[in-house]
Amino acid sequence: MAESKLMHAVQYSSYGGGPSALKHVNISVPTPKKDEVLIKVEAASVNPVDWKIQSGILRPFMPSKFPYIPGTDVAGEVVAVGPGVSTFSVGDKIVTWLDLKTGGSFAEYAVAHLKFTVKRPAEVTAIDGSCLPVAGLTALQSIRDTAGIKLDGSSNANLLITAASGGVGLYAVQIAKLGGAHVTATCGARNIELVKSLGADEVIDYKTAEGDALKSPSGRLYDAVIHCATGFPFSKFSPNLKPVAKVIDLTPSFSSVVTTAVRKLTFAKQQLVMFMMTPRRKDLALLADLVKEGKLKTIVDSQHPLSKAEEAWARSKGGHATGKVVVTFDTESSM
Ligand SMILES: NC(=O)c1ccc[n+]([C@@H]2O[C@H](COP(=O)([O-])OP(=O)(O)OC[C@H]3O[C@@H](n4cnc5c(N)ncnc54)[C@H](OP(=O)(O)O)[C@@H]3O)[C@@H](O)[C@H]2O)c1
Repeated sequence: MAESKLMHAVQYSSYGGGPSALKHVNISVPTPKKDEVLIKVEAASVNPVDWKIQSGILRPFMPSKFPYIPGTDVAGEVVAVGPGVSTFSVGDKIVTWLDLKTGGSFAEYAVAHLKFTVKRPAEVTAIDGSCLPVAGLTALQSIRDTAGIKLDGSSNANLLITAASGGVGLYAVQIAKLGGAHVTATCGARNIELVKSLGADEVIDYKTAEGDALKSPSGRLYDAVIHCATGFPFSKFSPNLKPVAKVIDLTPSFSSVVTTAVRKLTFAKQQLVMFMMTPRRKDLALLADLVKEGKLKTIVDSQHPLSKAEEAWARSKGGHATGKVVVTFDTESSM
């Protein structure tokens, strides 16, 4: 029985400490409860929220307890099902989001809740699947639901995507193009050709004066900004926006909370919107289908075996990944 086995997991036991605080341990394989499945993890991607939680950004709510196995984004194979589970069977390949409070993806086995779990089409690799949950859902929901761009190609909106070379940004460029939007993107010089190849119409180097000013080279004003970079005041966006526009901030700070409130109270038509991804199963299935149909590509920055999970952590925390950082399990054996 899988439940009686030990597994290799990576966890931390207090806030702070960065990659060196990640410890490799041998612990019991968890048991799936009602509406849960036990999966053998095949790949897990890292998101900035993972190391931000370690740094204490959501203290004292997350993690819900220590020691904590980080990571939410997983692809794997179902090896056991909990009571009442009829929609998944042993052997199914899946993609899932593990609740942030409990985490769990940096381990050979993880327990996934049905409400966040979708079957992984054969055409979608485990690595690509593991990259979808947080980054893919954020890109999809910020563009479709918050910016209001339908994915039917009918949009003529002008969109700015900042930090388009990151995990969220590279999906966002492609999803915005599926919607038909005109995309201006910012990234470092080394990634300009990549971002263009995924469909961006105009790409500006964020280290140039034009990039720093967020100006569209063709002089377009933006209907919406998917702001994947961090730390710009609203005044940086406003000269480049249409009179009615939304700046969708993926990384709200205290000052952006204040700006959002002030602009709302004064009925400003150029809005700042604080965004939070919703882990919706239906949207995850849509993303997997887009990958299956060849409409959405995953760019992997780097792959790191679980035995070197700290390297994946450091790579993501460094802030210079191009696409997704992935932890792999293929050659993993218990410690
Ligand atoms: N609210 C939510 O629900 C939600 C969900 C997901 C993510 N987020 C947040 O969204 C942000 C982006 O996430 P991510 O996963 O895409 O991050 P990421 O993959 O770590 O982003 C790294 C990329 O950003 C680029 N970059 C950094 N600063 C830049 C700037 N000023 N202008 C242009 N490019 C810049 C880097 O390029 P160089 O290497 O060239 O510098 C690098 O390629 C994070 O703060 C994350 O926490 C929020």
